[in-house]
Amino acid sequence: MSDLKVNVIAHPLIQHKLTLMRDEETGTKDFRQLLEEISMLMAYEITRNMPLTEVDVKTPVTVCKSKVLTGKKIAVVPILRAGLGMLNGVVNLIPAARVGHVGLYRDPETLKPVEYYCKLPSDVGERTLVVVDPMLATGGSAAAAIDLLKEKGAKSIILMCLVAAPEGIKVVNEAHPDVEIYVASVDECLNDHGYIVPGLGDAGDRIFGTK
Ligand code: PRP
Ligand code: URA
Repeated sequence: MSDLKVNVIAHPLIQHKLTLMRDEETGTKDFRQLLEEISMLMAYEITRNMPLTEVDVKTPVTVCKSKVLTGKKIAVVPILRAGLGMLNGVVNLIPAARVGHVGLYRDPETLKPVEYYCKLPSDVGERTLVVVDPMLATGGSAAAAIDLLKEKGAKSIILMCLVAAPEGIKVVNEAHPDVEIYVASVDECLNDHGYIVPGLGDAGDRIFGTK
């Protein structure tokens, strides 16, 4: 665990809401809302060090120096389908963000990711991409999504997940050492079906009420 490169966002509100999400009694409506709330709080944390520059602004009273964001613009890239559950939370905080979509599902037999969709902003190379997916399990989906984004020209990528297994963090660290990973929790391990333990079950099914 100690050699894993990962940022755990330990904010009490995030941890409290994550506990509610883990509870198997939490239904679709609350699960979806909690994920959106946590995603917004996580986005607040990951943008904490965004660069600022000073500009002149004329208030109704006087002219003064004041700060605005500078540096790369953001695009949010949810990994379909469960990543969609994190999109609104981030976009609520960064309304001007562009949105790309990467469609991947994990084959239940092989646990390998299968790509089925990719649509990205045309200036992908000039933006910082925030890839969102609640679950980082084997790491296969996230690593494949990042491969694809780099093939399309992405140069600056952040991965934001809710719950991660150490195995998945290791896979992404090794495949993409340049990608900073942010999570709300590093859980214990994976079970024989590639599910995160203790985790929260199948995130996509719980967000969309499918089974
Ligand atoms: C889940 C999850 C991740 C992936 C994680 O998606 O949202 O994308 O599994 O597993 P991995 O790290 O082992 O690749 P899933 O394949 O269930 O598809 P869904 O989002 O459409 O439900
Ligand atoms: N995908 C999920 O939705 N949950 C897990 O625990 C692992 C992969």
